[in-house]
Amino acid sequence: MRVLVTGGAGFVGNYVVRELLRAKHSVTVLDNLDPQVHAASGNGAQVPDGAVFYRGDLNDPEILLKVLKHADAVAHLGAVVGVGQSMYEVSYYTHNNVNATGRLYETIIKNKLAVKKIVVASSMSAYGEGLYRCTKCRKTIRGGMRSEAKFKKGSWELDCPVCKKPMTPVPIPETEPFAVSSIYALTKRDTEEIALMLGAAHNIPSVALRFFNIYGPGQSLSNPYTGVAAIFFSRVLNLKPPVVYEDGLQSRDFVHASDVARAVRLALESDVKGQVFNVGGGERVTIREIADTVLKVCGKEGAIKPQVTGQYRKGDIRHCFADTAKIKKALGWKTAVLLNDGFQELYYWAQKTSSVDRFDQASQELEHFNLLAKAK
Ligand SMILES: NC(=O)c1ccc[n+]([C@@H]2O[C@H](COP(=O)([O-])OP(=O)(O)OC[C@H]3O[C@@H](n4cnc5c(N)ncnc54)[C@H](O)[C@@H]3O)[C@@H](O)[C@H]2O)c1
Ligand SMILES: [Zn+2]
Repeated sequence: MRVLVTGGAGFVGNYVVRELLRAKHSVTVLDNLDPQVHAASGNGAQVPDGAVFYRGDLNDPEILLKVLKHADAVAHLGAVVGVGQSMYEVSYYTHNNVNATGRLYETIIKNKLAVKKIVVASSMSAYGEGLYRCTKCRKTIRGGMRSEAKFKKGSWELDCPVCKKPMTPVPIPETEPFAVSSIYALTKRDTEEIALMLGAAHNIPSVALRFFNIYGPGQSLSNPYTGVAAIFFSRVLNLKPPVVYEDGLQSRDFVHASDVARAVRLALESDVKGQVFNVGGGERVTIREIADTVLKVCGKEGAIKPQVTGQYRKGDIRHCFADTAKIKKALGWKTAVLLNDGFQELYYWAQKTSSVDRFDQASQELEHFNLLAKAK
């Protein structure tokens, strides 16, 4: 296939391009080299050899038509990424994520292009809070937004709405509805809905992949708006403690970028359409564990301690991790990289890469906009 990869100069895009080239597809990349990602990393254009690169914006119909004309399929990864920042740089997020996805489909529709498959990148953030089980009530309950009053007391876990006892997080399947709590999440929900709605109406087979937290060599170590693993590495390599919000026992689901790239390829190659799939490690890892693992692989265990601040980010979720049964069954996908191995590899790479620690700037911005607060 001739595949257009939007955002192909980005972190995940690079893995997807290499994965597709390895499988003998031909690849064109469209990427505007957004300075927040590319200037920060200091390495300009980063498109793997073997792919044809066009520097351009997804919002530009002319360049879109040029690259789409010769495409059999599209992996649409181009987007701006960051939950906290999206709560004040609102139009930057809607423009690059929602409008851009609209433009992509519009260009195909208006020019009656023969694109046979589009895979769009969605995010676990579109779920909002995860799924829980109350063992006492024997019920599965979807978590809601935590109240400000609860945050203020430093009471972090979600309680059962019936018996008020703490609940146990369970994996979330794709059938759970959206409950977005950030503009970034909203743009990813819209990306999915635009793709599936227009895909069905105009017979452009489309699939949305809900990525969980992706990590791996190549991720921007200097972009403080995204990726807790990268932010922690950048702190520790600059000999500063990783800053952990809440009590550090909140959890997420981590998946290696090479596993994500394989999911994208399998979705592009399959006949599946009109479907959404979780792409996650399927395991719950606490943020404290992530901080400890980073310190351990950096050989700084004991020398540097994670700084648990008791601060919280407004609208942040407590637990969410993937149920991956659907993608395993439909696409035969499963993860290949274990977290410890992946982090070790990330460390070897990060050591050789310069990283500017801009975490303080990002957290000051959150404070400035009242998005970061402290429990009393
Ligand atoms: N990294 C994660 O943990 C994660 C998790 C869930 C979902 N995702 C999604 O995966 C995709 C890739 O994320 P990533 O981590 O590789 O991010 P990234 O920032 O490294 O890559 C995104 C790329 O898109 C490009 N881009 C942005 N706006 C564009 C525009 N208007 N026109 C053309 N190119 C544009 C950027 O220059 C960048 O190279 C995104 O859609 C993101 O929402 C990522
Ligand atoms: Zn209960």
